[in-house]
Amino acid sequence: MTIDFKRRLPEIYSNIDDTLESAKIILSEAVPNAKTLFHTPVVSTFNNGDITSRVMVLREFDFEKKILRFHTDNRAAKIDNINENSSATVVGYDPELKIQIKLQGQASVHINDSITEKAWNESTARSKKCYSVKDGSSKEIENAEEYDITDFEVEEGYKNFAVIIFKFHNLEFLYLKSSGHRRALHKWDSDYSCSWLVP
Ligand SMILES: Cc1cc2nc3c(=O)[nH]c(=O)nc-3n(C[C@H](O)[C@H](O)[C@H](O)COP(=O)(O)O)c2cc1C
Repeated sequence: MTIDFKRRLPEIYSNIDDTLESAKIILSEAVPNAKTLFHTPVVSTFNNGDITSRVMVLREFDFEKKILRFHTDNRAAKIDNINENSSATVVGYDPELKIQIKLQGQASVHINDSITEKAWNESTARSKKCYSVKDGSSKEIENAEEYDITDFEVEEGYKNFAVIIFKFHNLEFLYLKSSGHRRALHKWDSDYSCSWLVP
C-alpha cells in the first residue's frame, strides 16, 4: 500500500495525460486502501427503466484489461438487473483530492466459474462470512436480528457468491480547483482518444 500516493498527484493539470495517470494511481490505491474514498465507489445499473445505484467495495482495478472487479451475493437484485441490461456507470469523488472519476461500460455477472473461484480463494474469512446470510438480500423480513450471522460454516457461502466484472470504455476525470477546473474524457473505442471538456 502506498502511504503517500497523494504526493504522486500533480497540483496543476496542464497535460491531459496526467489526468489519466492520476486516475490510474487513485484507482490502484483504492483496492488495498480502505481509507481512500474510491475504495467504495457508487455503481449504477438499470432496473427495467429506472436507474439503481449502490456503494460497492472495489476489489480489483486492471488498467490493461480496462476492468474493475466487485463481489456480491448472487441472490441480490443487481444480478438480474445486470443480466437484463449490462450498461453500468461507476463514480467516486474524493473531496480532499478534489477529484471525481466516472467510468462507463458494461457489467457482467460470474457465478461458480474460474473467476469466482479465484476471487473466493483470495477473500478473507471476514469477507466470506457475508455470503452465509440466509435468504439473500432485499427480502422483506419481520425481525432483522434473526438475520445476524452467528452460526456459519465459512465455505458454505461460496454457493451464494458472485463476481461482477465491469469493463469500461470511457473514463472521465474532473478536478475542481479554484485555480481552474479541469475535465478530461478518455475513450477506448476501436482506438484510444482523449479530449478536454468544459468543466
Ligand atoms: C461501505 C459499503 C460497502 C458495500 N460493499 C458492497 C459490496 O462490495 N458488494 C455488494 O453487493 N454490496 C455492497 N454494499 C451494499 C450495497 O450498497 C447494497 O445495499 C446491496 O448490495 C444491495 O444492492 P442491490 O439491491 O442493488 O443488489 C456495500 C454498502 C456499503 C455501505
